[in-house]
Amino acid sequence: MSTDVAPAPTATSESEWWRTAVIYQIYPRSFADGDGDGIGDLVGIIDRLDSIAELGVDAIWLSPFYASPQRDGGYDVSDFTTVDPIFGTNVDARRLIGRAHELGLRVLVDVVPNHTSSEHRWFREALRAEPGSAARARYIFRDGAGEHGELPPNNWQSIFGGPAWTRIVEADGSPGQWYLHLFDSSQPDLEWGSEQVRAEFDEVLRFWLDLGVDGFRVDVAHGLVKADGLPDYMPAENAGSMGGDEWEPIPYFGQEGVHDIWRRWRRVLEEYGPDRILAAEAWIQPLGRMAQWVRPDEMHQAFNFAFLSADWDAASQRAVIAESLDAFGAVGAPSTWVLSNHDVVRHASRLALTAENPQGHGIGPDSPGLPIPELGLRRARAASLMMLALPGSAYLYQGEELGLPEHVFIEDEHRQDPTWFRTAGERYGRDGCRVPLPWTSDAPAYGFSEAGRSWLPQPEEWATLARDAQRGVPGSTLEMYRSALAARRTHGLAVAELAWVDELGGASVPEQVLAFDVAGVRVVVNLSEAAVPLSDLGVHTDQLLIASAPVVDALEPDCTVWLLR
Ligand code: GLC
Repeated sequence: MSTDVAPAPTATSESEWWRTAVIYQIYPRSFADGDGDGIGDLVGIIDRLDSIAELGVDAIWLSPFYASPQRDGGYDVSDFTTVDPIFGTNVDARRLIGRAHELGLRVLVDVVPNHTSSEHRWFREALRAEPGSAARARYIFRDGAGEHGELPPNNWQSIFGGPAWTRIVEADGSPGQWYLHLFDSSQPDLEWGSEQVRAEFDEVLRFWLDLGVDGFRVDVAHGLVKADGLPDYMPAENAGSMGGDEWEPIPYFGQEGVHDIWRRWRRVLEEYGPDRILAAEAWIQPLGRMAQWVRPDEMHQAFNFAFLSADWDAASQRAVIAESLDAFGAVGAPSTWVLSNHDVVRHASRLALTAENPQGHGIGPDSPGLPIPELGLRRARAASLMMLALPGSAYLYQGEELGLPEHVFIEDEHRQDPTWFRTAGERYGRDGCRVPLPWTSDAPAYGFSEAGRSWLPQPEEWATLARDAQRGVPGSTLEMYRSALAARRTHGLAVAELAWVDELGGASVPEQVLAFDVAGVRVVVNLSEAAVPLSDLGVHTDQLLIASAPVVDALEPDCTVWLLR
């Protein structure tokens, strides 16, 4: 590990900042390109970070920028403590943390403990070593089934499609053992029963904490520990990453043993004081079960994927919000709220899809039920404005503040997601939500890269969505986010209690309308297909604080308003 860089200054403010924080996810490959190779990098982020501070968020989370062959967008890490040259250097990382802290932004970095890249020195060593050796014991190697070991050890399938096992060739050239990879074959799963693996990750955490980070987003925090004996398991068709609606034990997800790891990590963080945090990516249902990841001695937050996955109708939204507040509240954790990230169809498209779209499959030119862009944007704005009023902590994904939709029409030759390759194009995967950001409407590559290059093509329609086309423009999506983030702070929404409103204007709240009070603000969301006259809601335009769409004398379909009570 290189330790030749001094720690960056640490942000100061109260230690429970994360209970109310709005955290902005940066996907470094696609945020801003500082060196002209068409791939975003740390210098690009440093140069553009004031735009994120100006938005009014509290923290950033950076997806991986570590040494990696980039077979899974950097979630295939070959060295956990070195910045990949495509993103810059460790000195750039220190500068980035320092710049963020100067701007009042905390910094979370990603940590990927379930697997390494197949290029990691440990895995290379394991390939050269004998079956049964200490080097193999850091991973999950098994002899194959069948007479000659020619069949995989069990029936597990990779989340990206195809079998979760790959057979190796032993050093002497003979057909050999198999190794487990829940994701791509370039991402061998680590054996977390190994104390060496555990100890190594303690040091990875300390390395970044020493450099000044405020915490970690933990990748696949429901994985890591596999059931003894690796029993066969096949998820239900279309179950997506989270399994079905009900809790059922999965031999590779949600095993009891993971909680000990999070308790151990929590203790490492506490060496650095009370304000460093862990945020879990745990695709676990129901929410009451996910809340186990954020018990007082484990992690601080878990992404609320149930909220992200909820249908756009009043009953589903109310149910998931209520369940979230209850489930996380029961263990003393804040609820989080999230609508988009680098793994899901952007919500400006997802909320207007008219066909089933299992998580991870993505959408492309031949997908059924493609969204109407105007409807998607209208719903996304309504959903985001509703989300930003909810008590707790919220995560934003780069570009959602511009109303970016999924890029549906990426030509096959540009696609990079391993899902696309592992399913022979049957699933499009996640490239459509990872397209480089538009900064300037009339610049090449929309200002993403001064060289005019972009590792994924950007759609033509994005000129009008570029940041410079929205900045300071009343009614733009960017200005709606800025106003909402400012008002959220001024009115103390994140710390308030939510109270459902069942009567408005002397009558029951209309069906498909959702209303709740938080602090001094009343939030009303129209999820119906008909406009609702303001007079029916007992509301006047002079109460209007923020609206997701123009309001004259009615609340239009798919519109959220914040009103002063
Ligand atoms: C997480 C990441 C995703 C990645 C996978 C494997 O789900 O968010 O992008 O492909 O883990 O690391």
